[in-house]
Amino acid sequence: MAEDLHISKGNKEEQYQDLIPQIKGLLDGEPDLIANLANVCGALKEQFNWFWMGFYLVKKDELVLGPFQGPVACTRIRKGKGVCGTSWAQAQTLIVHDVEKFPGHIACSSLSKSEIVVPVIRNNKVVAVLDVDSSSLNEFDETDKMYLEQIVSLIEF
Ligand code: SME
Repeated sequence: MAEDLHISKGNKEEQYQDLIPQIKGLLDGEPDLIANLANVCGALKEQFNWFWMGFYLVKKDELVLGPFQGPVACTRIRKGKGVCGTSWAQAQTLIVHDVEKFPGHIACSSLSKSEIVVPVIRNNKVVAVLDVDSSSLNEFDETDKMYLEQIVSLIEF
């Protein structure tokens, strides 16, 4: 496995297309979930340099903070609360162009302006969410949804 990530300079689609095989390489043959979640966050950080990206894991009736890149964040989120808890409850990806317009948004940092949350679904159950925050408004769109869903589908839970 190559330890250095090749950083693509193309448009967003090209960046994801270059990144995904590298993420596959990072995950290949490694069974440890925490190691894999940590490396997915590291790879996304290196390629896109978003403000915050990380996983929250479903534990009983809460989401609990897992591996992430970025500033310290809220550790526990209840089902239906915030963007993450809503994505969990609805079992679908949520794109928030302006976090101030999302009722109940949980502001772990005032610097976060837009957000995408992708649920990780296994056996018809949400087992985790990938949360990505940007310090710019309107950062995320359907392209991010498609590729981030693809990326979380690669992780063995
Ligand atoms: N904004 C999220 C909380 C998690 S932090 O952004 C890292 C939410 O509303 O669920």
